[in-house]
Amino acid sequence: MKLLTPKTQAFDSWIRSQFVQLNDELEGLYFQQEDKSNVQGIGDDTKQTLEREGRDLIIELLAEGNTDQGFDSAFDLLGNVGLYMAACRRHEITEPSRETTSPLVEASALAMHIGASIGVTPRFATAHLTTHNSAQNGTYKRFTSLQDEKLFLDYNTRGILAYKRAAEALLKIQPLGISHPICHDLLVSCQKALQEVIDSNAILFERLDATRFFYCVRPYYKPYRVGSQVFRGANAGDFAGINVIDMQLGLCLANDPDYSQLLVDKFLYMMPEDQTLLRDCMRRESLMNKFLEAENHSDQDWYQANVSQFFKACTLHGETANQHHEQLVNKYITQPASQLTQTHLSTVTASGPPLASLLSGLEKLKDKRMANERSDILTRFDDLKILKASLR
Ligand code: HEM
Repeated sequence: MKLLTPKTQAFDSWIRSQFVQLNDELEGLYFQQEDKSNVQGIGDDTKQTLEREGRDLIIELLAEGNTDQGFDSAFDLLGNVGLYMAACRRHEITEPSRETTSPLVEASALAMHIGASIGVTPRFATAHLTTHNSAQNGTYKRFTSLQDEKLFLDYNTRGILAYKRAAEALLKIQPLGISHPICHDLLVSCQKALQEVIDSNAILFERLDATRFFYCVRPYYKPYRVGSQVFRGANAGDFAGINVIDMQLGLCLANDPDYSQLLVDKFLYMMPEDQTLLRDCMRRESLMNKFLEAENHSDQDWYQANVSQFFKACTLHGETANQHHEQLVNKYITQPASQLTQTHLSTVTASGPPLASLLSGLEKLKDKRMANERSDILTRFDDLKILKASLR
C-alpha cells in the first residue's frame, strides 16, 4: 500500500484521538440529563471545538487535491470525513431538516470528490467501521471509547464476516451443480457459518446495554446531508453477502419489486467488489429453483442428501432473520423508541423513514427469509413445502 500523505495522516490521528475525546465528553453530558435525547444547549464549546478542529484539517486536505494514493487510502479518508460529518449530525451541529445544504462545505466537497471518484456513496458506510477499519495497537476507529460501541462493532463485524462465509460456500455450488457430491459439503459449510451468525448475535443480545446503545451509539448512524443531498444512515446490512444468501437459496427474488427496491437502494453503500458480486448474483438461478426442477430425481440418493441439507440451510437463514427482528431490533430500537416523545421519535431510524414503516419492511424481509405463509407478499412457503414433501 502507498504511504499516506502527512495531511491524511494528521486527520487520521485526530479521528483516532481528540475526536473520540470530544465525543466522549459530549456523550457524558447528554447521558446525565433526565431527557437523554436532548443535545440542545449542551456542551456548546466542545461542539464548536469539534467542528473547528475537523474543518481546519479538512481544508488542508481539500487544498491538497487528489494525490492518487490508491483505492484503499481514498476509501479510508472518505470514512474519516464521514465519521466527522456523522458526529456533527449527532451533536446537531448540522441537522438535515433545518438546512437545504450541508454547512460543512469543505467536508462535503471532499466527500463528494472521493465518493464519486471511487464509485461509492459520499458518506461513511458500515464497512468503514467494521470490515475495513484498521486497528492501531489494538484499537480500531470508533466515535467514542464507550464499551457498548466497541461491543456493537465487534459483533457487527463478526456477524458480517460469518454471513460472507455462508455466501461464499453457496456461490461455490454454482459451477458444480446441485447433484455434485460436494454440493452437500458446501451446504453444510453454509449452515456452519449461519450458526456462527446466530451465536454471535446471541452474545450481542446478552451483553449490549439497551439504554447506552439507544442514546449514545445509534445516534451516530443517522442520515446526514453531503452537499445538498441527504444520505441515509449506515446499517450492518450494507454488504452483498446477505443478499447473495437470500437469492442463492431462492428465499428472496431479484424480480420481486419489494426486494429489488432494497437492492437498488443499497448498491452505493457497499464496497465496489460487493457491488460487482451482487450484480452477478442477481443474474443467476437459485438453488431452490434448481432443486424444484430436479424433483423427478427425488428417488436418487444425491437428491435426498442435498435437498435435506438445503432445507437446513434455509431454516438457519430464517432463524438469523428472526433473531435480528425479534431480539436485536425489538430490544434495541422498538422498545426504547416506545418511550420517546414524538419530537425525538422522528430521528430514530438510520434510513430516515418513520419507525413503523421501517419495522414493517424488516418484518417482510424476515417472513421472506423464513418462507412464512403470507398472502400480501411473495414468499417461498409453497415451494419449500413441495421440496419437503419430496424427502423420504
Ligand atoms: C438492518 C437494527 C445488528 C444485519 C437493520 C435495520 C435496523 C437494524 C433498525 C434497518 C436499517 C435502518 O435502521 O435504517 C439492528 C440492531 C442491532 C443490529 C438494533 C444490534 C444492536 C445487526 C447485526 C447484523 C445485522 C449484528 C449481522 C450482520 C442487518 C442487515 C440489515 C440490517 C443484513 C439490512 C436489512 C436486511 O437485509 O435484513 N438493522 N441491527 N444487524 N441489519 Fe441490523
